[in-house]
Amino acid sequence: MNQLISLSGIRRTYQMGGETLHALDGIDLSIQQNDYVAVIGSSGSGKSTLMNIIGCLDTPSEGHYRLADEDVSEMTGQQLAAVRNRRIGFIFQSFNLLPRVDALHNVMQPLVYQRVSYRQRKARAQELLERVGLSGRMGHQPNELSGGQRQRVAIARALVTAPSILLADEPTGNLDSSTTADILNLFDELHREGQTIIMVTHEPDIARRCHRQVRLKDGQIIEDSRSAMTTGKEEH
Ligand SMILES: Nc1ncnc2c1ncn2[C@@H]1O[C@H](COP(=O)(O)OP(=O)(O)O)[C@@H](O)[C@H]1O
Ligand SMILES: [Mg+2]
Repeated sequence: MNQLISLSGIRRTYQMGGETLHALDGIDLSIQQNDYVAVIGSSGSGKSTLMNIIGCLDTPSEGHYRLADEDVSEMTGQQLAAVRNRRIGFIFQSFNLLPRVDALHNVMQPLVYQRVSYRQRKARAQELLERVGLSGRMGHQPNELSGGQRQRVAIARALVTAPSILLADEPTGNLDSSTTADILNLFDELHREGQTIIMVTHEPDIARRCHRQVRLKDGQIIEDSRSAMTTGKEEH
């Protein structure tokens, strides 16, 4: 399988008063195309910090990050923004949709930064909203949608640029159990279609459903295992 992500010696420190806080303390991690990874660990273990670095929202204090043959750790803010727009789809617990903007225009928004006509943006956004089962809700604003529907809009928006990686930081954290099941089924389908997915979760059963589990503690990886079902097939 093709390697997509390679992190080596990644550290992220924060200066707090006189103290140095090590949010990530020497992370080495490789992720292949079509990997389906759960990032787990207790609160404060560094999960979101790791996701933000992988998603090019933040840069490491030390170490190297290669994303599909580009050394992302050496890039300027503007270069990073371009990589983020081209390669990353990010989904958050709180959806992060634009308020007072309908589903269609929320999903079209990432394409504004690409050289695509309004017509093409609209067609592509409609295609993705259909893909996530929201063809009947394109004209609804976020406050006119349920939590599960909002997260589907967010997933469509994340996928509209055909990103190399789908990153989800506790995507079902604000959803009830039946809506959670729907959203997880959608992730499973996207994975089967070839999408690379990295998901932060607190739920052991959600983590098991992913094919690989990476556990953080105090900014370090203390466990990296694959679900029994997929071992062998995905090993290389
Ligand atoms: N912007 C920040 N400033 C200072 N400390 C931070 C900041 N973001 C995260 N941290 C600290 O880094 C550690 C890891 O945080 P985080 O990655 O959010 O953990 P998790 O997502 O696993 O709960 C925590 O101790 C947190 O308090
Ligand atoms: Mg977090």
